[in-house]
Amino acid sequence: MTTKNRIKRFTLLQRLSHIFLIITFLVQSATGLGRMYMETDFGQWLCWIFGGYETTLEVHIWFGLIMLGGFVLHACYLVSKINWTNFPKSLFGPDSMLPRGADIKDFFQHVAWFFGLRPAPAFDRWGYWEKFDYWAVFWGMVIIGVTGLLLAWPIATSRIIPGWSLNVMFWIHRIEAILAMGHVFIIHYFIAHLRRHNFPMDRGMLEGSVSIEDAIHERPAWIERLESKGLLSGLLVSDAAFSQRIVQYLIGFVAMGIGVFLLIGAIVNAPYIHL
Ligand code: HEM
Repeated sequence: MTTKNRIKRFTLLQRLSHIFLIITFLVQSATGLGRMYMETDFGQWLCWIFGGYETTLEVHIWFGLIMLGGFVLHACYLVSKINWTNFPKSLFGPDSMLPRGADIKDFFQHVAWFFGLRPAPAFDRWGYWEKFDYWAVFWGMVIIGVTGLLLAWPIATSRIIPGWSLNVMFWIHRIEAILAMGHVFIIHYFIAHLRRHNFPMDRGMLEGSVSIEDAIHERPAWIERLESKGLLSGLLVSDAAFSQRIVQYLIGFVAMGIGVFLLIGAIVNAPYIHL
């Protein structure tokens, strides 16, 4: 008999959305960096993969549009999840991604814990860093999306706003892209996958469940809340089959490998490009 040693954390739709984001983000990063690093072998090689300098831009714009389409669908999904009978109070429950007072308290207690000054905070379902990650992507998408769309159709854009503002858009797009790639390829990878009990990869987002032992240790307030409402046993699931886990690791390592490769390529080649 298989033991139910994991707790369900993400729905199928949420996991598919995350995979969609992984694919589109990696393509946008690779094609964007290909254009940005065209003076170097690294940039030329990236552009070669996408069929050359011009087609790389076409791929960047098409995948950008697909990514923004996904973002619009996500916004519709959020609206569909609102409990209107108890609005706006329903927005701020412990299952919501909206920040609340407890996150600020958790943050300071967590920092104190890093220095051995306080016990670790008893996190609920979402840690403050997970909410930060989520909202960083959300607003990042708006900034990078608006500037990207204006840059994609420069003639039409310059009919509405002065031509020089395209240079400003380009810099905003570039800075936001560097910030997003730096955050995802360094901070997100490290926090999600390289922490001691997650190493070498957090299976949560691909498998949809996390180890109950880890959840009790890290998110005791979530587990207590589910237990007190009698919901815990209904959320317990078993480990995915071995073959399924191999596939998960393969997807995860390929995605992380591409991100780390792009990060290293961008850092190593940075002195050789003219901005
Ligand atoms: C997370 C998503 C994205 C990332 C990481 C990203 C990254 C980049 C990078 C690194 C550049 C090159 C800047 C340079 O040459 O210095 C760039 C340029 C550009 N991006 Fe994006 N971008 C993203 C989303 C989008 C979207 C959604 C669109 C619009 C549909 C878009 C349209 C453009 C355009 C038109 C350029 C100018 C390309 C050129 O002329 O070289 N990008 N992007």
